[in-house]
Amino acid sequence: MSKHLIAPSILTADFLHLENEIKMVNGSEADLLHLDIMDGVFVPNLTFGFPVIRQIKSVAKKPLDVHLMVVNPDRYLEEYRDAGADWLTVHYEACTHLHRTIHRIKELGMKPAVSMNPHTDVALLENVLTDLNMVLVMTVNPGFGGQKFIENSYDKIRKLRRMISDAGAETLIQVDGGVTEENIGDLIEAGVDVFVVGNTIFSASDPLKVITNLKNHL
Ligand code: DX5
Ligand code: ZN
Repeated sequence: MSKHLIAPSILTADFLHLENEIKMVNGSEADLLHLDIMDGVFVPNLTFGFPVIRQIKSVAKKPLDVHLMVVNPDRYLEEYRDAGADWLTVHYEACTHLHRTIHRIKELGMKPAVSMNPHTDVALLENVLTDLNMVLVMTVNPGFGGQKFIENSYDKIRKLRRMISDAGAETLIQVDGGVTEENIGDLIEAGVDVFVVGNTIFSASDPLKVITNLKNHL
């Protein structure tokens, strides 16, 4: 039995009935609830901010995994904590002083993670790997749900898995983008621990069943 975690991303959920969508996740075998925060600058799309996160938090029973696709994330770290973030992911490409940012997230009581765009080499994380609870390997270019999985992500994941084991670290590997019931098995084999899944869950006619299938894949 695999120990991988499932983090449904509400990006493609029904925002008119978001409470129902979150309650569906509450009653599922999912482990985290993934929230995508986009600023229209770091990525070519906009999503939602603190009032929405706070309201989601008031209903959600799963820890909130907040993925910041924003420039200068340092500006609002405390506000994300106060809004209810349990895990906070910043992008490598958006942080000039990444070490400082990671430690500030920790001080604020959240679990720090760093996300890397498809073109960014995971080797760049070597000096902060043991400070991180999780590394997010983007398996699509961030900005939109429902995109096609980038196949050369497998090499990147295997390389990161070796780096983590060489460092004797406990850091989890997360992937985000294009995860399906078909590719999750290969991704588990490559060494992924945490799966963000949007479209595959929220466009399904039976999302609960899809979560069960993803969770019990092996
Ligand atoms: C994309 C977001 C993802 C998105 C993944 O920039 O970070 O979390 O919701 O969606 P799917 O699973 O539809 O590719
Ligand atoms: Zn995401």
